[in-house]
Amino acid sequence: MSKIVIIYGTGSHNTERMAVALEEGVKAEGIETVLKNVNDAEKSELSDADAIAIGSPNYNHAMMPTVKRFLNGLGDLDLKGKTGLAFGSYGWSFEATQGINTILTSYGVEMIQDLCVKRMPGEEELELCRKVGALLACKIKK
Ligand SMILES: Cc1cc2nc3c(=O)[nH]c(=O)nc-3n(C[C@H](O)[C@H](O)[C@H](O)COP(=O)(O)O)c2cc1C
Repeated sequence: MSKIVIIYGTGSHNTERMAVALEEGVKAEGIETVLKNVNDAEKSELSDADAIAIGSPNYNHAMMPTVKRFLNGLGDLDLKGKTGLAFGSYGWSFEATQGINTILTSYGVEMIQDLCVKRMPGEEELELCRKVGALLACKIKK
């Protein structure tokens, strides 16, 4: 059975809202998901995932330190060939998603285009997140 793991950091819940909508899109395609705040996530959960979506808001021109620490700890996992997505809410710049993309790419993850939403996602942006979740699911359907 295919599986997508969605892990996110968030300060004021905007990136969390994106993560929940992504999960809705994945589930609509009948794919199993794990959705975790990075503070509760274990890297072992990524081992049998076919796709991984990692989210962080942009704070002070960077991803959240908790997300960075989690990503930096993944170096000993074999993530090569998995499908990946970087996502997050931002105010005016894109360093968080760019940084997630760079780190996952360095592990051999095949990234689709970053998903960024300005500030709090409205219904239109949440629908976009659901669509991207469905796209991820379709990419890994066996
Ligand atoms: C202290 C602080 C620093 C921020 N720094 C940035 C930044 O460097 N670049 C940016 O695009 N947005 C910045 N933002 C805006 C946040 O990325 C934005 O509010 C985002 O929606 C927060 O997402 P979250 O609710 O998931 O934490 C900053 C916000 C705060 C409060």
